[in-house]
Amino acid sequence: MAHPAVVPVLTIDGPSGSGKGTISRLVAEKLGWRLLDSGALYRAIGYAAGAEGIDLSDVDAVTRCAQTIRIRFVASHDGGETHVIVNGHDATDELRTETAGAAASAIAVIPSVRQALVDLQLSFRKAPGLVADGRDMGTVIFPDAAHKVFLTASASERAKRRYKQLKDKGLSVTLAGLLREIEARDERDASRAVAPLKPAEGAVLVDTTGMPIDEVVAKVFAVVRP
Ligand code: DC
Repeated sequence: MAHPAVVPVLTIDGPSGSGKGTISRLVAEKLGWRLLDSGALYRAIGYAAGAEGIDLSDVDAVTRCAQTIRIRFVASHDGGETHVIVNGHDATDELRTETAGAAASAIAVIPSVRQALVDLQLSFRKAPGLVADGRDMGTVIFPDAAHKVFLTASASERAKRRYKQLKDKGLSVTLAGLLREIEARDERDASRAVAPLKPAEGAVLVDTTGMPIDEVVAKVFAVVRP
């Protein structure tokens, strides 16, 4: 088996709503590589802590939760969405909510929580390659990645995408409220002391505002296979 360090990695970092999740999945499929959805790990910790009644500002308790959490990604047989099993419970639906996103962003500022996730994230690096989706994939977790992309889109475009997704699911949300949440989350993710959201050195910047998905996929794919 190839040594983990020589397994190629494509890191895709960027703010929420930049299209990272969709693009990472499609590019990983096209390359035949594995996928790491690191945001799901932070969401899972926020969710598990909440389920145990832990106050998210209780650093020691949240850290213990991060150190002991069991997270499994289970691909569905019909090629549909991947299920996320957290401490034995299928939490796929709960993890996608705005509440889970906000909880993830809140606990992601805790250095010991981020540290607890390092080995788990590195373990996804397996042949033939890995697409790693997150905020600090190219800067902190896989700084030696051969290929790095930073995806962005304007805050209003990201709010509109999120609005459509949530409306399609029948949830009641307002565009103005989502825009406020997105801007607050961007600010928190970019200004935190540990692993703030910023483009990795050498990352290819792709602004997806107004760009159709297939065009973004082609652009990102070309970073790996020019
Ligand atoms: O990508 P996402 O929306 O699922 O991420 C949820 C939150 O988790 C995000 O607001 C910040 C945090 N996060 C992080 O700090 N580092 C990562 N690599 C991925 C996500």
